[in-house]
Amino acid sequence: MAKVTIPFIQSLKGQRKFAMLTAYDAPFTRLVDDSGVEMILVGDSLGMVMLGYSGTSPVTMDEMVHHCKAVGRTAKTCLLVGDMPFMAYQADISEAIRNAGRLIKEAGMDCVKLEGTSKQAPTAKAIVDAGIAVIAHIGLTPQTAASLGGINVIGGQNYAAAKRILDDALAMEAAGCWCVLMEAVPADLAAYITSRLKVPTIGIGAGIGCDGQVLVTHEMFGMFPGFGLPFGKRYAEAGQLIQNGMQQYHQDVLNGQFPGAENSFPIDAELLRRLEAGA
Ligand code: KIV
Repeated sequence: MAKVTIPFIQSLKGQRKFAMLTAYDAPFTRLVDDSGVEMILVGDSLGMVMLGYSGTSPVTMDEMVHHCKAVGRTAKTCLLVGDMPFMAYQADISEAIRNAGRLIKEAGMDCVKLEGTSKQAPTAKAIVDAGIAVIAHIGLTPQTAASLGGINVIGGQNYAAAKRILDDALAMEAAGCWCVLMEAVPADLAAYITSRLKVPTIGIGAGIGCDGQVLVTHEMFGMFPGFGLPFGKRYAEAGQLIQNGMQQYHQDVLNGQFPGAENSFPIDAELLRRLEAGA
């Protein structure tokens, strides 16, 4: 399969849906890349599912670059999106451009994603003007979820809230973002925004009307007990399957069932006899 490009994803709008999954390391990148899914997001959700933080805000640029590099080295087909972590783009526009550049230049990403409202549109525009393609992440923005009152649906409270999300999407499109990701936005609002934008939209907890969908892979396969978004979907209990295997291995070791002859190396019996004889 040919490498997926931004123009290809843009050409799908109104034609067919597409999908994105997270990956943070080589093994999962291989699995996603071979699955037919069009895009990989190296999301800052790695803070929870890979690094053991309680949220995304502690994740650093160096940690993002480290994981993006592993994905960038491994992927052959998927379009690669590197997440800008909290405080990598909020304080200073030059720093934002430099940090976005690291994800492209050092880590081999095809584009970057940043969270925000229309207030971040000038930063998004500056990064786009520097020649880096940007996805805008609007609606529920986990990096600042605490200031939004936690993990809530955004935009459904009243007219002003719904209008704010629409304005965020339009501002990010006007800033040059090539795609808008909406998280935890009411389905009909996300569908309406999708119809208003020329660029593709990607939804997570934003209903069927978005052009594409994204899920956090470790969550969809039950790979990280305790981590769950209310709007995710569990496709397999791979974590449980792996733990069953670990428990079986433990029992096999305790019972002398592992390693068997097929897992061991033989030695010439005569050699052993001479060793035993002290020769
Ligand atoms: O970091 C991430 O995985 C994300 C998704 C929830 C879209 O931003």
